[in-house]
Amino acid sequence: MNFLEERIVKDGIVKEGNVLKVDSFLNHQMDIALFEQMGEEFKKRFEGCNINKILTIEASGIGIACIVAKYFNAPVVFAKKSKSINIEGEMYCADVESFTHKNVNQVIVSKKFLGPEDHVLIIDDFLANGCALQGLISIVNQAGGTVEGIGIAIEKGFQVGGRIIRNLGIKLESLAIVDGMDAATGTITFREQ
Ligand code: G4P
Repeated sequence: MNFLEERIVKDGIVKEGNVLKVDSFLNHQMDIALFEQMGEEFKKRFEGCNINKILTIEASGIGIACIVAKYFNAPVVFAKKSKSINIEGEMYCADVESFTHKNVNQVIVSKKFLGPEDHVLIIDDFLANGCALQGLISIVNQAGGTVEGIGIAIEKGFQVGGRIIRNLGIKLESLAIVDGMDAATGTITFREQ
């Protein structure tokens, strides 16, 4: 097991409905020393990629992205979830459907902060159905930029997102891939990487 898998086993809680709670170290209370290890690991996994910008989505992606960004000497841009509609022209927009929350958010990024010169590493905490990532990829494409890769803390390997993103031919690196969870026993099965 790697450092993140070990931490998930130690402090993650398996809930009914295939939900993994990691709010004591990843997406509510945040363990910055752990984020530093994640930044170091992503730097290794994306060695040789020409990355000048980190893109994430609010809220939980932001903390991780900021620490990862230190390792790439790059600024972080985060997509905002917005209900407003009067913003076309100045903003790139994409619709992101959440299967978990059963709603659709419009996500937006100002045209000032993303353009054809950008080689982007997308960072997020969870990959489940991949809707958030598809929205972010669409925004980079609208900007004429290049998606160099995607770095995820925890991928739920039994949901469709990972397959969809890999089928697009994008380099996707997930630090922990959960292939199964059992709420009754608390057991978590990781994919060998
Ligand atoms: P997707 O983004 O991959 O398409 O997945 P989905 O719509 O299913 O996920 C909706 C939200 O639920 C996302 O956060 C995602 O990170 C989160 N999520 C999915 N599965 C789990 C899980 O097992 N455990 C936890 N803790 N979160 C999970 P969000 O609500 O869009 O963003 P945020 O504001 O929380 O960052």
